[in-house]
Amino acid sequence: MSATISLQQLTDQLDALEAEAAAEIAAAADPEALEQLRVGLLGKKGRLSGVLGAMGKLPGDERPLVGQRANVLKSQLQELLSAQLQAVKSAAMAERLTQETLDVTAPPSGIPVGHRHPLITTTEEIVDLFCGLGYGVAEGPEIESDHYNFSALNIPEDHPARDMQDTFYLSGNLLLRTHTSPVQIRYLEQNPPPVRIVAPGRVYRRDAVDATHSPVFHQVEVLAIDEGLDFSHLRGTVMAFLKAFFGDLPVRFRASYFPFTEPSAEVDVQWRGRWLEVMGCGMVDPSVLEGLGLDPERWSGFAAGLGVERFCMVRHGIDDIRRLYTSDLRFLEQF
Ligand code: DAH
Repeated sequence: MSATISLQQLTDQLDALEAEAAAEIAAAADPEALEQLRVGLLGKKGRLSGVLGAMGKLPGDERPLVGQRANVLKSQLQELLSAQLQAVKSAAMAERLTQETLDVTAPPSGIPVGHRHPLITTTEEIVDLFCGLGYGVAEGPEIESDHYNFSALNIPEDHPARDMQDTFYLSGNLLLRTHTSPVQIRYLEQNPPPVRIVAPGRVYRRDAVDATHSPVFHQVEVLAIDEGLDFSHLRGTVMAFLKAFFGDLPVRFRASYFPFTEPSAEVDVQWRGRWLEVMGCGMVDPSVLEGLGLDPERWSGFAAGLGVERFCMVRHGIDDIRRLYTSDLRFLEQF
């Protein structure tokens, strides 16, 4: 038995569909949900078709009324669907824009920060400690003359330090300084005593590279000239400095020889169970002072040459000098 249906019932169904569909469309939050709604409402097997399927049960003259109403509803729903699609899309775009904001005033992130090289910080620490003892800072050229590097320091022509094995000679009388001691001479030429200075800098020697040798290395020269200075002042100064730098590492003075000091000593600190030489020092030889026109009866003083690499290696527990020169960021980033 086929159920009958009245015009009124069908019209009510269309009204209900209109109200429901409008609410559902308005609630759809994304394009996929809207597409599902469109198929469910307007597709072949959709709800509108379902209502229209019952139209055939109406008397012939009433069908066009329902047909017209259905067509109007169909285009209303299409409009609602496409308006909501636009709204959903532009809401999504607005959301994306706020999330993807680029703050051009924000500080840059992820840019690697540079590090000061441990040899630089070690040199500065040594210099600072001597400044605290009242010393000034002097510098001299890395390209030196034979005179300043050797002769004025009482290093005679036949001294092994002049050997081609040790010194990088340039043309003429020039060479790459083999130590910072020539700064003693240059400074005293320009500045009458009393003087107390340190002179940091690079020095060069024709050494084969190994774990403890590099053809370029760094020294800090120390020079104090005054009236009445003797070996106790040298020892007291060196001990005070070493204690400030290393703390309580054992220290020993060993008698040694340098042409420009008399007496001379080498200073070792005990590190990892071994004695490690960290500087040469001594009382400035009277003949060096005489060469500068200073009266050794009146003026005396002491000098020292510190090996910066040694201080740096002990301070940071570095076992191979080559690490200080190979510019390996994985190494340098630790400092
Ligand atoms: N110039 C020496 C060298 O490079 C080190 C040195 C020793 C410097 C004794 C001094 C000193 O001032 O008094 O081997």
